[in-house]
Amino acid sequence: MAAKRRILIAGNWKMNGLKKDARSLAGALGTKMSKLKAKPQSKPEFEMLVCPPAALLGPVVDAVKGKGIAVGGQDCHANEAGAHTGDTSAALLKSMGCKYAIVGHSERRTDHGETDAMVKAKAEAAHKAGLSAIVCIGETLKQREAGRAKSTNKKQLAGSLPAGATAKNTVIAYEPVWAIGTGKVATPEQAQEVHALIRAELAKAIGEAEAAKMRILYGGSMKPGNAAELLALPDVDGGLIGGAALTVADFWGIAQAV
Ligand code: 13P
Repeated sequence: MAAKRRILIAGNWKMNGLKKDARSLAGALGTKMSKLKAKPQSKPEFEMLVCPPAALLGPVVDAVKGKGIAVGGQDCHANEAGAHTGDTSAALLKSMGCKYAIVGHSERRTDHGETDAMVKAKAEAAHKAGLSAIVCIGETLKQREAGRAKSTNKKQLAGSLPAGATAKNTVIAYEPVWAIGTGKVATPEQAQEVHALIRAELAKAIGEAEAAKMRILYGGSMKPGNAAELLALPDVDGGLIGGAALTVADFWGIAQAV
């Protein structure tokens, strides 16, 4: 029997928004979640997460306090502390009130040269600090067109999966690079094929029972209009949402599709 996994609707705000925008977006989502929670018959069937830029964590944590919305960082350093100008430690994220840290986003792999080994170390640092790691993988258009979508994801997963990964401390996000911010979304067949592959690889790495419980998110131009179809796929357990996480209407619209 398929394991029941709680859908995770995660917003990655990337480098967007100022303090006032963050406050108003988080505040409005908080109000919507509170209203939903207040209705006994409609207990949210999903978990909501917002990942603002590091400098906005404080205001966002304050804005969603007690509203049933989790907060996460977009990255963390592999080391606990030290001379790493501009970086953020997992322990600091935790102390700010975060529950999650995204690691290995393709934009960080590209902009900051992050390798699978670095992503793995960051995920392990997140665990050590008591955070759940959202480990991102995904192929480029060139890799897909060369017929290497599966092998690329397999390799990235094997290299980036933290030691001691469990369904509780780790979430995988499949984000095909060609679908990020492009308006091109993976077809349900493409998404399910890679998600099923990821789960099969996880089963080999951490055992079938844990793999069956681990959440695998889809990311790449998810919008209210395509979310229902993607979230209904057997191995899609939520979304990691960029552009559509920046407005209440779109992000809430996606959550409503659960
Ligand atoms: P978009 O939803 O803007 O395509 O971004 C996806 C993403 O990169 C989330 O991490």
